[in-house]
Amino acid sequence: MSARPLAAQTGAAHAAILGLGAYRPARVVPNAEVVEAIDSSDEWIQQRSGIKERRFASPEETVQMMSVAASRRALEHAGIDPRQVDGVIVATVSHFMQLPAVAPLVATELGCEQPVAFDVSAACAGFCHGVALAADMVRAGSARHVLVVGVERLTDMLDRTDRGTAFIFGDGAGAVVVGPSETPGIGPVVWGSDGEQYDLIRSRDDWRDVMAAETPVTPHLVMQGSAVFRWASFTMAKIGLQAIDRAGLTVDDLDLFVPHQANMRITDAMARAMKLPAGVRIARDIAEQGNTSAASIPLALQRMVDDGEARSGDRALLIAFGAGLAYAAQVVVVP
Ligand code: COA
Repeated sequence: MSARPLAAQTGAAHAAILGLGAYRPARVVPNAEVVEAIDSSDEWIQQRSGIKERRFASPEETVQMMSVAASRRALEHAGIDPRQVDGVIVATVSHFMQLPAVAPLVATELGCEQPVAFDVSAACAGFCHGVALAADMVRAGSARHVLVVGVERLTDMLDRTDRGTAFIFGDGAGAVVVGPSETPGIGPVVWGSDGEQYDLIRSRDDWRDVMAAETPVTPHLVMQGSAVFRWASFTMAKIGLQAIDRAGLTVDDLDLFVPHQANMRITDAMARAMKLPAGVRIARDIAEQGNTSAASIPLALQRMVDDGEARSGDRALLIAFGAGLAYAAQVVVVP
């Protein structure tokens, strides 16, 4: 037996987000359009969630199409050619092919040359999982430029008559390019899961039961709203503070807070619990976009950039959380 050791592999000293892009479906759906089926009102929805409108994808605005559109913008922003991309990670729970993943299709349509490509199933936390994986890949040397996409067509799994979910969710995509950097641009991730609370947000049925039913019905998303609200508001603030600490910063060093856009009141409760200074600008994309699960953080950051609220070099705390329950938080530098 040879005693020769395996070669070690190392990558870039640091990783950063090099480019950002988003895709919002064309159709705007105001609260007025969803209230009738759930015996609700525009006023109630705005008060309880902060949502005024959301976007619903058309049949042409598929998971693949929205991913490609957001990715092209992120690549252009980064100044990276698709052929330089050697990793594609797509975070989604609404690609309705059990196999294979959508990531290889996205990579091929973009013109990437056979990169490693796979999907991540971590629901609303998926985008921050993808960013953490990509940063580790770049630093470990298993990839140099990784495209991370968060994309959802949640309308495909929405029961339009369910008062607890019908007004919350929407569709869209966001993407970033993660690559090598001279300085750290993606802080250490704080992530985890709590399978004890698996039932709080999930598909109502297993696909096998659906197929066996006399009248098959899509296994809609169901949620225990109040329990999710309490968990997100309090537990996630602690995770955010840990991510700031692990980045070697304090709340005073932050410029932006870009949490998963689940509910405006959850965002405010987290900001209060973390005692964020008044100068930290807070993402509030949920008002116009609803909750787009894995897509919500890059969409929210893109709106802040477009509105001049986020500038290149700003330090942003990201916190993503949702079904699983799964969560991930990290501080990143805006490209
Ligand atoms: N429209 C009008 N009234 C509604 C309603 C609706 N869509 N849904 C519930 N209500 C009513 C209930 O019937 C209840 O009435 P009652 O007090 O007369 O019994 C009252 O509003 C409160 O119901 P509750 O379910 O306790 O509402 P809530 O204050 O918890 O708000 C959510 C509901 C969904 C807005 C809230 O729980 C939430 O946002 N949870 C987190 C969701 C989330 O972020 N999910 C994604 C995580 S990734």
